[in-house]
This record gives sequence, C-alpha cells and structure tokens, in this order.
Amino acid sequence: MAKWVSWALIALLAVMAALVGGCGSGQPAGSGQPQKLTLYCGLMEDHMVKAIKQFEKETGIKVEAVRMSSGEILGRIQAEKNNPKASVWFGGPADGFIQAKEFGLLEKYVSPNAGKIPAQFKDAEGYWTGIYVGYLGFVSNQKLLGEKGVQAPQSWEDLLKPEFKGQVVMANPGSSGTAYTMLASIVQMMGEEKGLEYMKKLNGQIKTYPKSGTAPGRMVGQGEATVGITFLHDAIKYREEGMKDIVLSAPKEGTGYEIGAVAIIKGGPDQAAAKKFIDWCLTKQGQEIGQQAGSYQFLTNPEAAPPKQAAEIKDTKLINYNLDWAGKNRNALVEKWSNAIK
Ligand code: G6P
Repeated sequence: MAKWVSWALIALLAVMAALVGGCGSGQPAGSGQPQKLTLYCGLMEDHMVKAIKQFEKETGIKVEAVRMSSGEILGRIQAEKNNPKASVWFGGPADGFIQAKEFGLLEKYVSPNAGKIPAQFKDAEGYWTGIYVGYLGFVSNQKLLGEKGVQAPQSWEDLLKPEFKGQVVMANPGSSGTAYTMLASIVQMMGEEKGLEYMKKLNGQIKTYPKSGTAPGRMVGQGEATVGITFLHDAIKYREEGMKDIVLSAPKEGTGYEIGAVAIIKGGPDQAAAKKFIDWCLTKQGQEIGQQAGSYQFLTNPEAAPPKQAAEIKDTKLINYNLDWAGKNRNALVEKWSNAIK
C-alpha cells in the first residue's frame, strides 16, 4: 500500500474514533445515537424554551420538556416512581424538591459547578441546587383600586378589607409552588392555628384559585381581579409586556421567598445528559438567560448579573423563611389548608 494511503487511513480512523466517542457532540459513547433529555419544568414557558434552545446548541443534546406547576411535577414524579419518564426537574420553589427528597424521588448530584453556589441556596447533601430567588408580594390593578377608592394592600391584613371581597386571586397551594410559599409563610409568621384561621378568612375574599402561580398576575393585569398574590418578578414581567395598570406592593410585616431549584429525578433515563444540564444551569450563562425571556428573579451564581428589573424589589422585607420545614411539611400543610377552607 502506498505510504500516503496508509496515512489517510490512520487519519480517517482517528476521526471516526472521535465521532463515536462523542466528545461534546451530544452522542453517548459507542451508540451513534444523539443524546436526549426529558425535563419537567416549573418555570415560565418562554424562559424554558430559551434555556433549552441554548443548551441544545451548546451540547447537541436534544431536549423535550413539559411545563407544569410545582405540585403537579411532584405528583407526576411520585406517580412515575417505578418507571420515571423524565430525568430533570428544572425550576420551581425548592419546597417541592425537599418534599420529593423526603419521598426518595431525587438522585443526589453534586455538580462541579455547585461549588460557586452559596450554601444557603443548595441542599447540603446535593439532592437539589438553587438557581434563582424570588420574593412573594401583591399585584394590584391601579384602575380597579381607583374605582373602589382603595390603596394597594400594604399588609396581609389588608387583603381582608371589605373592598377586596371576591377580588383577591391566589393560586391553589396544592398545585402551585407560589401559593404554597404564601401558605407556609403565613403559618410561619402566625403559627399554625392562627395562620389557618387567617387562610379561612382570606378564603372569603378569594375570587378563584387557579392552578398556576403566574395566573393571578395575569388576571389582575387584564382587569379580571383587583389584587393577586404572586412572585413580584412575575408581575414586573406582565407590566413590561403591556399590562400598564399593574402596581406592585409587599406586606410590611414581611414576606416569604422561593429558592428556585434544579435536581435529577431518581432512576430517570439519560442520567449523563441530566448531569450536563444541571452543570449548565449553574453557570453564569445558564442563569443569565432567563432575563432575555422576562424572568426577573435574583440569581444564585454570584458571577451572574441579576436582571436590572429586579432592583425595584430588592428592599422587600423578608421573613426568615424556614425552607426545610416548609418542604418537609408540604403535603401535610396543604391538606390542613384544604380542610380549613371547606
Ligand atoms: C413562575 C416564576 C418562578 C416560580 C414558578 C412557580 O414561573 O417565575 O419564579 O418558581 O412560577 O410556579 P407555580 O405554578 O408552581 O406557582
């Protein structure tokens, strides 16, 4: 064989080996098949789509995702425990993740990038890692407030004002992580008995309990209700999108907050791709992508630039939210709440 032919053959074999090895090409070693990943996502849809596109572009891994509220994701992975369909739970308050960890539904994974995330934003054992922080508050419709001659609520008690009867919207704490953060905050601030009494009184003011935590902001922005309980960054997004009557306020006694998290679902397929996704979510670029889609949470990676839109809520008075308690008691507290409002 001519010398140049054997050199060409060696070069060809080297290229083929690299391709089969799949180094960064999104192919699992030896399979020739592109890697794929299925996510259950607790974030807003447009944030989810942006993040996925970028991750696919960088890794070649093909992603499928379903948007659900936190309680729905928890229920889904519990129901699929013996045959998990998805590998990553991406976004939504950590309370749900803590409950999932208690139920043995999460896989421990300490990403090499988790070292950058401060300890208060991640599970000490590595079952979930925080990617963002959101503050709870009130969203009101300025026009409707004006018609009723009432100010935007400044305290939890204000929600009980007669002017707001049938005019308050909060999501259902069973399905929504946002609403559960509110329920857990009230019980932490007032104690269980008084807290549930308050929730019962508030029930008399409620127009409807939608499934998703972002619905109250949208309904108030569209003039369907006067006041909503929401994560404040979601209200900023709707106002920016053109719902000009939206005004933000927060309870002067203090409010709860979420640490939005990401975790690997135990026994799910494509675990190698799942790890890559977690690694990516913790990077500066992975965290900064949300603001391009109007997601204005604070970020957990200190190197990531927080959205400038979040500056207006940075001085919100927060309670010392006991996340561990809130997570471990999630399902029990939701049941107590639903009995209390019957
Ligand atoms: C929105 C917020 C997130 C939050 C999520 C919770 O997407 O931007 O910060 O984690 O809602 O959704 P849920 O429907 O469970 O209340």
